Parts: sequence; C-alpha cells; structure tokens
Amino acid sequence: MRIKILLSLSIVIILVIIMGAAWAQDELLNKAQTLFKPIPETLPTLKDNPLTPEKIKLGKMLYFDPRLSASNLISCNTCHNLATGGVDLQETSIGHGWQKGPRNAPTVLNSVFNIAQFWDGRAKDLAEQAGGPMQASVEMDNTPERVVAVLKSMPQYVELFKKSFSNEKDPVTFNYTTKAIEAFEATLLTPNSRFDQFLKGNTSALNAKEKEGLKLFMDKGCTTCHNGIDIGGGMFQKFGLVKSPDPAIRPPEDKGRFKVTNSAGDEFVFKVPTLRNIELTRPYFHSGKVWTLQETVRIMASVQLGIPVTDDEVDKITAFLRTLTGEQPKIEYPILPPDTDNTPRPILEILGKGSEKH
Ligand code: HEC
Ligand code: HEC
Repeated sequence: MRIKILLSLSIVIILVIIMGAAWAQDELLNKAQTLFKPIPETLPTLKDNPLTPEKIKLGKMLYFDPRLSASNLISCNTCHNLATGGVDLQETSIGHGWQKGPRNAPTVLNSVFNIAQFWDGRAKDLAEQAGGPMQASVEMDNTPERVVAVLKSMPQYVELFKKSFSNEKDPVTFNYTTKAIEAFEATLLTPNSRFDQFLKGNTSALNAKEKEGLKLFMDKGCTTCHNGIDIGGGMFQKFGLVKSPDPAIRPPEDKGRFKVTNSAGDEFVFKVPTLRNIELTRPYFHSGKVWTLQETVRIMASVQLGIPVTDDEVDKITAFLRTLTGEQPKIEYPILPPDTDNTPRPILEILGKGSEKH
C-alpha cells in the first residue's frame, strides 16, 4: 500500500517537473517571439524601386564589377565579400591606392532591414548608400560621370539598363546604377538560422546552453537595443551609454552621428548594428578593434548596461550569438560584359576628385 502511494507520489512529482520545464520552455519562446522576428524567406518590397529579375541581375553584375572603381580593381564585393559574410575581415577598409578608411565595413547581408545605412545612418536607404563608395576617394575614387561613361561604353550594359528601367529613354544614369545595386542587395537575406527555426516553434533547434544564452541576452537587457528582424539595425544609441569605452576601442575623433546632425546629444551615437551572422563578420565595432565575440559581450555589458557578467554568462551569450548565422545567399559569379575601345582606362593614382561623403 505504502509503496503504491510513494510510487504515485513520485510520478506526480516527475510530471510536475516535466510540466515546469515545458512551461519554462514555452515562456522562453513566447518572450523571444515578442522581441524578435525571423528573417523572411520572401523578398522585401522597396519604396520607389520594384524588384524585377532583370534589375536584380543587372544589380548583381554591378555589385561585382570592379570597373565601377577608378582602378578597375575594387568592386563592392572587395569590401563586402559575399563569401565571407558580406565583409572584408579588416579592422577598417582598404580602398583605392591602398588607402585605409576610417571605419570597419558593416555587412551587406540583411542590410535592407536597417533603419538607415552607414554606422552613423547618413544614407536613408541602400540606393542612396551605394552612391557613396563609388565616389569616396578612400574607396573606389570614381565620379558619377566616369561611372556612366564606363557603363555606356559596353552595349550589353546599355541593353540591361533598358530592360530594367524600360520607361526611360536614357536609362544609363548614376541614379539607376544605385537603384539596380539596391535591388540586388535586397536579395541578400540569410533566413533559417537555428535561432529562426527556434523562433518558428522548433524548440529543439537550440541546445540547453544556447537557450540559457538567449535567456541571459533578454534578461540582462541586450534586447533594449538589439531586437527585431535584424537583432539590431533599428535604432541609434550612444556607444558608451553608461560608461565611456576605452579610447583604443572608441577613438575620440569619430563622433558618429554628431557629424550628421550636429546635435550635442549625438556625440558617439552610432546605429545599433545587426547581430545576424555575427560570428562571420569579425572584427567588431565601428573601429574594428575587437576580434573576439567574448570581448564584445564583456564590453557591451560594461559600457551599455553597467552590469557585471561572469565568464560562464559570457560563454553562454556567445553560444547564443553563434546561432544567428543563417543560410548564406547562393551566388553564381556573374560574367561581365567585355570592355570596348571606348571604355575609359583604369586610373591608379589617387585623384580624390569625388566627394568625401562615404
Ligand atoms: C573600400 C571598401 C568598400 C567598398 C569598395 C565599398 N564599401 Fe560599402 N562600406 C564600407 C565601409 C567602411 C562602410 C562603413 C562606412 C561608414 O559607416 O562610415 C560601408 C558601408 C556600407 C553599407 C551600409 C551597411 C550598414 O549596415 O550601415 C552598405 C549597404 C554598403 N557599404 C554597400 C556597398 C556597395 C553597394 C558598394 C559598391 C557600390 C560598396 N559598399 C563599396 C566599405 C566599402
Ligand atoms: C543601449 C544600447 C545597447 C545595448 C543595451 C547593447 N548594445 Fe550591443 N551595440 C550597441 C551599439 C550602439 C553598438 C555599436 C558600437 C560601435 O561600434 O559604435 C553595439 C555593438 C555590439 C556588437 C558588435 C557588433 C558588430 O558588428 O561590430 C555586439 C556583438 C553586441 N553589441 C552585443 C551586445 C550584447 C551581447 C549586449 C548585452 C550584454 C548588448 N550588445 C547590449 C548598442 C547596445
């Protein structure tokens, strides 16, 4: 008799434990679903720039064409390499004439979901952004006129512009070049990360340690800034909200958004970066001074939240961050039109004629 009671009692206890664990599991998923959204499997719609297969094809060719640079050596893909997470793996980018730029190259992957483009948000969308690097002397050191002359010298490009922007009589313009690149960039999505599988209800897509990391990421307050589809990309915040970071990591000369708005409150304010594919996009921060995810987590906890974190917590949060790597876009390398006798020849010296906008 007594054994029977003990037996049923322990069954009840085991059931309660299992139900408790399931409830905690559900609670973790429910909370995550209120803060984040999976990367969609379908293409987004762009304002004033309908996506068509022709335009995307043209944009892809332009993205990979080094002839958009004065030197014929540098394409968008040089610094946003789609084989390496859409970045160049440099502290700060190297451009025309081996000049070193001032900031780390952010990834182009999922960048269509950003509130604005660049670390300081000075371009409102991807088309406006794309005009910057072609003209920046430390990047591609070209001018809009020369870009158009290069493209017009190749009949295959003229044909593709006509197909992509069919209502226009003279579609080969700098503006449409940036629109086509924007259309291609909008396809650079990385859906189906293990975290997204979890968000869609497959709770076994993350292991126990990664789930603890997710819980810490939400409970500690990382999600005040890193949330939404891109787990970032949605707002501007001061780098050093509660405590100034080491000047080696936040160099005093780069005041971030202050340069765009001239408002004192924007000193050292930067766009909160996406954490999607973060394990692929070393080194970190706009200065590119930090090479390990563990260190970024420690710095964030200290300067953004003002809280201590243990090594074990850092380890778990880092494990969670590594689940944000999605399926990378499958890219077939485009074959580009041949030059003609009319194509301007490469220029290797540093002209610096373009604007310094980028
Ligand atoms: C020499 C390296 C280099 C080249 C070439 C280059 N970029 Fe960039 N890109 C950068 C750097 C560095 C930044 C960040 C600059 C800043 O925020 O001030 C950036 C920023 C961006 C961003 C903003 C992402 C974000 O999250 O804010 C996009 C999108 C982008 N580039 C696309 C392009 C395209 C398209 C091209 C070709 C037309 C291109 N880049 C050429 C280095 C480069
Ligand atoms: C108050 C807003 C805020 C909070 C809270 C916050 N971050 Fe950040 N995070 C930022 C900003 C802004 C940057 C960009 C800093 C820079 O380079 O200028 C950043 C950068 C990062 C980066 C580097 C990304 C890259 O591509 O270089 C990582 C990783 C990161 N945060 C993780 C975390 C983690 C983990 C937490 C919680 C412990 C956290 N953040 C809390 C605003 C925040």
